[in-house]
Amino acid sequence: MIKKGIILSGGMGTRMSPLTKAVNKQLLPIYDKPLIFYPLSILMLAKIRDILIIVNKGQLNQYKKILPDGKRLGINLSYKEQNSPKGLPDAFILGEKFIGKNNVALILGDNFFYGQYLSSKLLECIKLKQGAKVLLHRVANPEKYGVAKVKNKKIILIKEKPKKFVSDLAITGLYFFDNKVIKYSKELKPSKRKELEITDLLKKYKTKNKLNADYIGRGGAWLDTGSLDDFYKTSNFVSAIENRQGFKIACLEEIALSNKWINKKNIKEAIKFYGNCNYSQYLNKLIK
Ligand code: G1P
Repeated sequence: MIKKGIILSGGMGTRMSPLTKAVNKQLLPIYDKPLIFYPLSILMLAKIRDILIIVNKGQLNQYKKILPDGKRLGINLSYKEQNSPKGLPDAFILGEKFIGKNNVALILGDNFFYGQYLSSKLLECIKLKQGAKVLLHRVANPEKYGVAKVKNKKIILIKEKPKKFVSDLAITGLYFFDNKVIKYSKELKPSKRKELEITDLLKKYKTKNKLNADYIGRGGAWLDTGSLDDFYKTSNFVSAIENRQGFKIACLEEIALSNKWINKKNIKEAIKFYGNCNYSQYLNKLIK
């Protein structure tokens, strides 16, 4: 059972400069809440309560203004600063102490997931005892991602940002690993782009026949927030769904309440914390 999760929320957000010069990308709004709420909500939907957020050096104070220590959400939040982006597997080296002897989930701070069966899928994924598990999703632009070629339900090839077509199944930014991930990450060598690559890490599991894949499914959405355009498209997606149906995506307090991690009193405290805003009005409706 996976009980620990890491959100890798570093990166310089260069492609979105000047927006990201003063504010970390994950704190910019996807419609009505900061981007970081969305990956955090995914870990909470997976019933993971012990969460480490890795942030860029110098940005801790900004995060703590919006997500102080998790008590309000009934979770345990801790932070670690990353001096410079060294690639995704660096999360397991920086997070070694946090992970301890446990298995761990990693979600990228800029990944957006949504879908009806997502929660039950997540609860399946956290049952992982051994090896690694990835979630695949079909995309129209596989050259932008790590991709997997699948045959007879097995991953037979993994490639990071393939220039030539290999497969249109992208490896999404949500990964589940056993404890060996720390050791394997330490063994990796930087790639041409001078980063440790998650795809190299996954290859280690694949060679040992310990890599499993599942699908988000075509009814689910996995959206990008990499470029400015994609960022706004994701924001519009959230706005369209929320305004049509009247519920919020990634309302952290709502998830915590339905997980029975917090009670009405905590929601009232949250309303005080956020102040008079649309988000607070929504919270107020939850406890009416
Ligand atoms: C990273 C990974 C890639 C994965 C993607 C998901 O890409 O390297 O394998 O498909 O995240 O968002 P990057 O953000 O480094 O371009």
